[in-house]
Amino acid sequence: MRIFITGGTGFIGSHTALLLAERGHSVVLYDNLSNSHADVPERLRALAPSGDFTFIEGDVLDRAALASAMAGCDAVIHFAGLKALGESWVRPLDYYRTNVSGTIEVLAAMHANDIRNLVFSSSATVYGLPATIPVVESMPLSATNPYGRSKLTAEEMISDFVSLQSGWSATLLRYFNPAGAHPSGILGENPIGRPNNLMPIIAQVCAGRFASVQINGNDYPTPDGTCIRDYLHVMDLAHAHVLAVEASSDPGVRALNLGAGRGYSILELVHAFEAASGRKVPLEFGPRRRGDIPELWADPSLAHSQLGWTATRTLAEMCNDAWRFTESLS
Ligand SMILES: NC(=O)c1ccc[n+]([C@@H]2O[C@H](COP(=O)([O-])OP(=O)(O)OC[C@H]3O[C@@H](n4cnc5c(N)ncnc54)[C@H](O)[C@@H]3O)[C@@H](O)[C@H]2O)c1
Repeated sequence: MRIFITGGTGFIGSHTALLLAERGHSVVLYDNLSNSHADVPERLRALAPSGDFTFIEGDVLDRAALASAMAGCDAVIHFAGLKALGESWVRPLDYYRTNVSGTIEVLAAMHANDIRNLVFSSSATVYGLPATIPVVESMPLSATNPYGRSKLTAEEMISDFVSLQSGWSATLLRYFNPAGAHPSGILGENPIGRPNNLMPIIAQVCAGRFASVQINGNDYPTPDGTCIRDYLHVMDLAHAHVLAVEASSDPGVRALNLGAGRGYSILELVHAFEAASGRKVPLEFGPRRRGDIPELWADPSLAHSQLGWTATRTLAEMCNDAWRFTESLS
């Protein structure tokens, strides 16, 4: 297949692009580089020299450019978006514009090009404050912040639109907490500016780029007082996208949780990273962050039964791989 990847030079998009190319698919990376670097296609070619990668710099909000870049593709994986929960309270309209209007443009461009296979990056935030854990896909959906609302709205729009079409397939992948990097140290999470996700923040503190890791709340009802989340290796996550895009001959919409199915506290993650890097991570404890829930992890069994997918890599592998990549940047 020729697969169009919005946000293709970003963290998850780039790892997915690599696995798709290794499977023999040709890949078009479409990205405005607002949160990733122009050297990513080069890094991908270094890792997969026979891979067919095309990079097009563009914005998903640019209707004409998006539709023309998509021409000739067989499937779309839509990663492009803004993803920082805290920032979404400060810039809600930017979140709705990029994540909601951007998804409208992706659907319209697919329709114009008669492409009927979509894989969408959703998030565990669409479960809001789940009543029970682990979270299963049939649980009620809600949003507790503008980022979550933008993902939930995008999911609903995709479902409405796809249900009107014939022969379309859409897979909504609800990620828990992606972390880690490609084991080569050549590809990893390298956002523009200060990272928002916890593991790259810890990694950059270990590398001496920032002084300390701020922990938002250590008085939660969890064994060590810090929040518990379901971390999964980005290579496992990328693999799920390959399976989803290849398995989409069944028409309709399906939502799948992608998580390891177990939780680690923030302090457990910090200690695992200290072991991987051999460095001490200075911590600062601050107040709880608005909208954070004490613990969250996935029931990933539907992804297993529908795609044959399971997260196999460990927390230690996530930390070792992320550290190898961070060290390679300095
Ligand atoms: N990383 C996570 O913790 C996480 C968790 C759940 C869901 N997600 C979702 O997964 C997707 C990918 O996340 P990521 O971690 O790879 O983030 P990322 O920021 O590394 O990648 C997103 C990419 O989209 C690009 N982009 C942003 N706005 C764009 C626009 N208007 N037009 C074209 N390109 C644009 C950015 O430059 C970036 O390369 C996002 O939609 C995010 O909401 C991520």
